[in-house]
Amino acid sequence: MLIIESVAALRRAVREWHSKELSVALVPTMGNLHEGHLHLVREAKRLAHRVVVSIFVNPTQFSPGEDFDAYPRTPAADAEKLREAATDLLFMPSAAELYPAGVDATTFVEVPGLSDELCGRFRPGHFRGVATIVCKLFNLVQPDVALFGEKDYQQLLVIRRMAADLDFPVRIHAVPTVREASGLAMSSRNAYLTAEQKERAAVLYRCLCRAAEAIGRGDKDLEHIERQQIETLRGAGFRPDYFSIRRETDLAPAGPEDSRLVILAAAWLGKARLIDNVRLTRV
Ligand code: PAF
Repeated sequence: MLIIESVAALRRAVREWHSKELSVALVPTMGNLHEGHLHLVREAKRLAHRVVVSIFVNPTQFSPGEDFDAYPRTPAADAEKLREAATDLLFMPSAAELYPAGVDATTFVEVPGLSDELCGRFRPGHFRGVATIVCKLFNLVQPDVALFGEKDYQQLLVIRRMAADLDFPVRIHAVPTVREASGLAMSSRNAYLTAEQKERAAVLYRCLCRAAEAIGRGDKDLEHIERQQIETLRGAGFRPDYFSIRRETDLAPAGPEDSRLVILAAAWLGKARLIDNVRLTRV
């Protein structure tokens, strides 16, 4: 596995692959890799000749006061896992390499509408940072396919829109959420949970499933379902940011005619802000 820190060396490596007509998959990450990330890498290997994984804790997607400094950084263990997963290239740039003008003076990519909903309301500027860094990685790696986890469902839609609007010739491939046996979605931020909180954190997924079951049984009062599950989360010691039933395609509030739905939730448990979602088709 090549480990590359500079933009110039990354460009050279991918240029050589492209000249040999080898297809390239990109798996963007912020490191502290878990089974969910490795699942993305294995899927990437199935889809392309060469796999690039990036590890970069992107400062522009964190608001002031968020966990940028505390975000778990485990580069040596990550490199070992990626080597075992037969990754071809690990790109680990510094912030100065990717933002040479500094994070405050850089050009940003905005995806309007979608970015202001749900997590965007609680994390202003977050999706602008995500869209910007992913846009830069697409320009650098010029991947044929890029893989993203469905756990970050809103992020997935923001990236799809950004790629379509800016005409990137890349296929965005979504990979289902990998869960612990308890149902808790795997996430680097689960590292902030104590053992007891980690057990309790599975309540979030159970609430999403219960809401989906209620809709499946024909309950049409979506606001009531949302309120019920917010109360359940509060009762279990969470501080919910939102619990919301939306249209799957564009995250608009779900109307009576919409059949393809996604239920999304974000809630704090101790120091961790957990997000998760389930999708369902209403008949
Ligand atoms: O999902 C993440 O880990 C990050 O938001 C991403 C897509 C790597 C951009 O920094």
